[in-house]
Formats: sequence, structure tokens, C-alpha cells
Amino acid sequence: MKEKTAKVAVLVSGGGTNLQAILDAEKEGKIRSGKIVLVISNKKDAYALTRAENAGVPTAVITKADCGSQSAFEAALIAKLEKAGIDLIVLAGFMTILSAAFTSRFENRILNVHPSLIPSFCGAGFYGLKVHEAALKKGVKVTGATVHFVNEIPDGGKIIQQKAVRVLPGDTPEKLQKRVMRQAEWKILPEAVEMVCNELLKKKGNR
Ligand code: GAR
Repeated sequence: MKEKTAKVAVLVSGGGTNLQAILDAEKEGKIRSGKIVLVISNKKDAYALTRAENAGVPTAVITKADCGSQSAFEAALIAKLEKAGIDLIVLAGFMTILSAAFTSRFENRILNVHPSLIPSFCGAGFYGLKVHEAALKKGVKVTGATVHFVNEIPDGGKIIQQKAVRVLPGDTPEKLQKRVMRQAEWKILPEAVEMVCNELLKKKGNR
């Protein structure tokens, strides 16, 4: 029988608000072409794992420390993802850079959400609050978020969605992070997941 939804795995490291946005979008029927079937964390204590459990989604923890090296870590991730028959991988606050060996295996099948308007404030070293600290330091008046495909260049893959967000007087990195999440990330990430899952199903001949 042909699959009606693409199988989605979400990779996380922290609080998981972007994971929550995807889970909510699936529940509300805004994501119809994909189903979140697996959440993998590289941090044992990530709150994102609790969010997945609350939604009844199977979880796994795979850490670099347990695996011993980057290549063993990536091999363990690949084994888990392939065993589950994953069509699309979503990096939602996944704070580790993946090598070309990993990204080339899932070409145009890995999405990432980044909390700036790429090509500003992105690449190695720009993650989480550091991105907003850099934006405030530079004095930009507009920032935002980007969803893009993941390739071997950190934050370098094809852009899928972007949304601009105003920087306001008195902003701290924390305040700006929250506004960027609320106004941009939690909207464009679920939209991009639906769009790419729909495309993947069409390619597989199921639509
Ligand atoms: C989000 O702002 C996400 O864009 C960012 O980390 C946060 C994770 O929050 N990701 C990066 O900086 C990746 N370069 P969450 O765990 O609540 O979704």
C-alpha cells in the first residue's frame, strides 16, 4: 500500500519549542503530508524529549560522548533513521554540525531552522542566543528566521522560507529570541515541513 504521509524525524538538543510547534501543527491538521514518528536528542536531559513523550512520539537519545567520535555518532544516527524508514529529517534546535558524510546521505531531505535572516549571523559559532547577541551588537533593525535545506556547509543550503521580525528599543538577546521564535520560527518551520513533505510524496508518486 502506498504511504499517505511522509515519515518525519525531529532532531533536538534543548527546550524543543520548535518541536512543539510542529507537533501542534500536525494535531491541528496544518501538517497533513507528514507524520512525526521519531524524536532524537543528542542531550539526555533535553526537555524536548518530554514534549515528544507527551505527544506519544517515540524518542531516542544518541550522544557523541556515548558513541566516542563524530563519525560513530553520525553512524548511530543514520542507523536509527534508516531503520525507522525516515523520509524527512528536521533539525529543530539541534546544536551539532553534521558532516558531509551525513548530509549527502539525505540530500534535500534535511531541514534546519535558524534564528536569523541567512546570510546574516549564521555559520559555525552562530547558534541559539549567540545569534541574537550578534544581531543586537551589530545594531540591525530587522532580523528574523530562516528554514533551509541542510548541506555540508553550516547554514549554507538552499533557503526554503524566511520571515522578518523587528528589533525593538530595549531588546535583550532573550527578548529578541522569544519574539523571533513567536513571530517567525514557530510559523515558518511547520509551513516548510508541510511543503517539503508534500513535495516528497509527489516525487514518490503517492500524490
Ligand atoms: C531556536 O531559536 C533555533 O532556531 C535555534 O535554537 C533554538 C532552539 O529552540 N537553532 C540554532 O541556532 C541552530 N543554528 P527550541 O529548542 O526551543 O526549538
